Amino acid sequence: MRVLVLDEVAPETRVALIPDHVQTLRGLGLDVAVIAGAGVAAFFDDAAYSAMGADIVPANLRHEAISRADVVLTVRTIDELDAKRMKAGALALCFMQPVASLPVLEALTQVRASAVSFELIPRISRAQSMDALTSQALVAGYRAGLVAAEMLPKFFPLFMTAAGTIQPARVLVLGAGVAGLQAIATAKRLGAIVSAYDVRPASADEVKSMGATFITLELDALDGAGGYAREMSEDRAQRQRDLLLPYVAASDVLITTAAVPGRPAPLLVTELMVAAMKTGSVVVDLAAETGGNVEGSQPGEVVTIGGALVWGAKDVPSQMPVHASQLYSANVSAVLKLLTTDGQVDLDLEDEIVSSSLVIHNGVVRHEGAIEALVKGN
Ligand SMILES: NC(=O)c1ccc[n+]([C@@H]2O[C@H](COP(=O)([O-])OP(=O)(O)OC[C@H]3O[C@@H](n4cnc5c(N)ncnc54)[C@H](O)[C@@H]3O)[C@@H](O)[C@H]2O)c1
Repeated sequence: MRVLVLDEVAPETRVALIPDHVQTLRGLGLDVAVIAGAGVAAFFDDAAYSAMGADIVPANLRHEAISRADVVLTVRTIDELDAKRMKAGALALCFMQPVASLPVLEALTQVRASAVSFELIPRISRAQSMDALTSQALVAGYRAGLVAAEMLPKFFPLFMTAAGTIQPARVLVLGAGVAGLQAIATAKRLGAIVSAYDVRPASADEVKSMGATFITLELDALDGAGGYAREMSEDRAQRQRDLLLPYVAASDVLITTAAVPGRPAPLLVTELMVAAMKTGSVVVDLAAETGGNVEGSQPGEVVTIGGALVWGAKDVPSQMPVHASQLYSANVSAVLKLLTTDGQVDLDLEDEIVSSSLVIHNGVVRHEGAIEALVKGN
């Protein structure tokens, strides 16, 4: 069975499989082919893939290679035209938000192919090694801490020097999930004083274990299913903003990472709250691409609000492509281990991980939200 690693489109720099994991897939009885140059933006060259036993497919044979592949690997959702080139029964494995990918699902339906989405891998302990949301959130959280330190016109750590004492920076992190905890850890390592807030009380112990202070507000908890948060009512959101204002105003750095599955990012911080921060403060809005936690933040841009610089996140894991690809590639390898037996795709639809993440099977869409959206659209 042939696994094909596709090239990604800029600004994506990650690659779905790194050379080290070619061996892992070969160990599962799979042949691996890589489109020439697919790993270059992540600093993995064709020679490194060849050395591990992968075939390098020249660009002019790309379309033919897709039509021969049994499994097609990408990081971003497979392109609609590439999906149309897949053969019947072949499988695409990538990040894919089904409802936002209806043309791709229609293409896969036409050719009777299948797709597994990393967004839908359930967060159960057996699936931890396959959890690409977590692995990529870790990269984003780390980058958020570094970007904030780089942009702040101050030191992060305490310095006691002959020229006087420099007070450490105060960093506030809103949303203490995977990315938030990594941002906390990074800011702590750089010597800042860190505090954090999350609507899930369960995150308090994790925040404290990083050496940061957990902020408790007089508000209801919002624990949802699967360890995720629930959406706030506008009333509660306003109250949360009022209670957070003094903490925001007292911070040199604000990093926001809050998300609610399937919903736009919650608005946690208004422009007025940012304007209450000291001149020279820095805000990093990791949720900028999904609606923004901070009013006025723009994905991929730095804007000035009051005296603060606000960095809107865009394509953050692509800013650290070597390790982001390495982690994603390990997730891919773990999923393929589950999905294959003796070198053949073998989907056990009774398995919770398979049944949750298999968006479309041999051309039949299985994801409920996508089915509804397709019916509405027709
Ligand atoms: N395999 C596993 O068991 C597994 C894997 C990964 C993550 N998890 C758990 O899932 C949880 C969430 O993970 P995530 O980082 O992907 O979440 P996420 O990206 O969906 O959200 C990020 C954080 O934002 C928080 N948030 C949402 N609304 C908020 C608001 N209004 N104000 C402040 N914070 C708000 C959420 O509670 C969450 O902690 C964590 O508990 C994590 O430990 C479990």
